Amino acid sequence: QRAQAADDYAQMQQVARYFSHQLRHHENSARVIDYLKGRGLSGDIVKQFQIGYAPPQWDGVLSTFGQKSAARTQLRDLKLINRNDQGREYDFFRDRIMFPIRDRRGRVVGFGGRILEGDGPKYLNSPETRIFHKGRELFGFYEARQAHRQLPQAVIVEGYMDVVALAQHGIDYAVASLGTATTTEQLQMLFRATSRVVCCYDGDRAGRDAAWRALENALPLLKDGLELAFLFLPDGEDPDSLVRQEGQQKFSQRLQGAQSFTDYFFGHLIDSLDMSLANDAGKSNLLKQAKPLIERVASEFYRELMLERLAQLLGRETSQLNSHFQRPQQSRY
Ligand code: CTP
Ligand code: MN
Ligand code: MN
Ligand code: MN
Ligand code: MN
Repeated sequence: QRAQAADDYAQMQQVARYFSHQLRHHENSARVIDYLKGRGLSGDIVKQFQIGYAPPQWDGVLSTFGQKSAARTQLRDLKLINRNDQGREYDFFRDRIMFPIRDRRGRVVGFGGRILEGDGPKYLNSPETRIFHKGRELFGFYEARQAHRQLPQAVIVEGYMDVVALAQHGIDYAVASLGTATTTEQLQMLFRATSRVVCCYDGDRAGRDAAWRALENALPLLKDGLELAFLFLPDGEDPDSLVRQEGQQKFSQRLQGAQSFTDYFFGHLIDSLDMSLANDAGKSNLLKQAKPLIERVASEFYRELMLERLAQLLGRETSQLNSHFQRPQQSRY
């Protein structure tokens, strides 16, 4: 098993090098490099993230690495090639900008591929494989750790381009959770590397939903001394578009001013309440929503703070609410 895993990592690394070579030497190279320049990326940053290019043909990876049958089996397992119903094999990524996804030790475990233009899904990601488990990896984490052993803070964003654009502007501690919601495991990885984590998703519905799910997943990790904050971007913006418009300084100021998780917590719950807090029913509803979440918070100090805030909102004394709350179960984290 271990030998196979080592071989998988070696194969992934070879393919990353192949994509990176294609970026510089394929006949489409000028077009691809123009695209990256158009998005504000320098050669240095492209090299740092080992951004590459998957050529348009159906058998780029296949013919380069899949001469032997055993190699093709491995490429299929790693989801670098597909096989259709007729048994014909072909490259999974074609004519896309390629972002290697590294695990915390720097081993390439998957890829994200962005279409240059034209039809098809904008992003295509490696499916899960025996070495790639999405909920456990963070794009950009390894690169951020190369820049800082202990991160000054971590910024979680949605996309590859957001991570890379922020790094291009000197904010070299951003990471992206891969496609789905940020998991407790991913947040745990970040809180081991820093005490301040800022969630900064796109300024749209999906981004706001992602923020709340991240908050829920973070609650069992919130121990004393750890800070979780939320930066909400103007409608239609994402970290990439905003840092390019505003530059590093303004974006860093936004990060410094990010909302505390407690402010966001109560703001969100009150906003999503369909009753007024002026009514008893509204108050009882807020208590019902907030209670199970507050009980999940790891730090007793944070729990107390939240309880005080809740009491204030309900027009009660904290001591009157205490009986509603139980001590949290021993957390796994
Ligand atoms: N994503 C994905 N599959 C999609 C769309 C998005 O996996 N079909 C993931 C990618 O990791 C992507 C991130 O979600 O980087 C953000 O998606 P989105 O905001 O839609 O990307 P854009 O900002 O529009 O992409 P770009 O800036 O490259 O135009
Ligand atoms: Mn898995
Ligand atoms: Mn979006
Ligand atoms: Mn976006
Ligand atoms: Mn974008």
